[in-house]
Amino acid sequence: MIKNFDLNSYLILKRKNVNAFIDEILNNTANSSRIVQAMHYSLMAGGKRIRPILCMAASEAVGGNADDILPAACAIEMLHTYSLIHDDLPAMDNDDLRRGKPTCHVAFDEATAILAGDALLTLAFRILSSINVIDDNTSSNWLKVIHKLSFAAGYNGMIEGQMRDMASEGSLLSLEKLEDMHSLKTGALIEASIFSGALLGGGSPKQIDQLKIYAKNIGLAFQVADDILNVEGDPAVMGKAAGTDNARGKTTYPSIMGLNKSKEFAKKLIHNALQALDDFDNNSNSLRAIACYIIERER
Ligand code: IPE
Ligand code: IPE
Ligand code: MG
Ligand code: MG
Repeated sequence: MIKNFDLNSYLILKRKNVNAFIDEILNNTANSSRIVQAMHYSLMAGGKRIRPILCMAASEAVGGNADDILPAACAIEMLHTYSLIHDDLPAMDNDDLRRGKPTCHVAFDEATAILAGDALLTLAFRILSSINVIDDNTSSNWLKVIHKLSFAAGYNGMIEGQMRDMASEGSLLSLEKLEDMHSLKTGALIEASIFSGALLGGGSPKQIDQLKIYAKNIGLAFQVADDILNVEGDPAVMGKAAGTDNARGKTTYPSIMGLNKSKEFAKKLIHNALQALDDFDNNSNSLRAIACYIIERER
């Protein structure tokens, strides 16, 4: 626990801001089209919002104002939610439960879920490119964020991670290959979230480099924690099924090194992440607290 920092209140406030922004963008009503209803359904099903919150916390850590970058934070959540909708499809993980609710293709239908994912992906870039530019420097930073996110979410990042995840089902990966897969599948978007916040918040190159180390470590720890939860988590709390990695023959940290060593490894990663924040002041306490939360979370 980080002294004098109330993470719970921080998370509640940031989630409220993210949800209000998304709600306004989608302007969901009973008369909305079926595709908007599907997009809204998955976005509002109750995600933890960890990526947008990391983006805003990284901005604050370098002295920025989180509210100024809410559009970037929410665009990132849209990219993430799109990836989950597609990840759950029958052609991929074929899951029925997500964020405590029936998955998008179950609640709607498969074609609608594919299109809702596509629409969230394009909406994310529409939001990022609709910023009211104040000056050339701000404009160039937003462009850098668009570039970074298109890499992280694309075939150099998350998509390649998902390809490797699918291709490796039923075979045993080495620890090195597992780490590579995780850093693409989950790490890339988490790193890009933190980079975006830090850049838009006005971070120095040195601060951005330190935050990259923080991001690499928590990104991997996040996926190790996800692997551990898949073994011993409570589906009712997680809002998604447990035991599925083993059933699908996926290589995970617990399957290679066992549960205890996986937990120790996750703790070591968080220790490294916290060390990377040594030169930051109290404005980075939210990042410190989130690092601890990532491996202590139950969902
Ligand atoms: C789930 O991500 C998929 C992984 C990358 C492990 P989250 O655990 O952030 O899911 P939500 O957004 O809270 O539903
Ligand atoms: C989720 O990955 C999708 C992406 C990270 C792109 P997983 O399949 O490992 O996560 P869960 O267990 O369904 O949330
Ligand atoms: Mg998957
Ligand atoms: Mg999955």
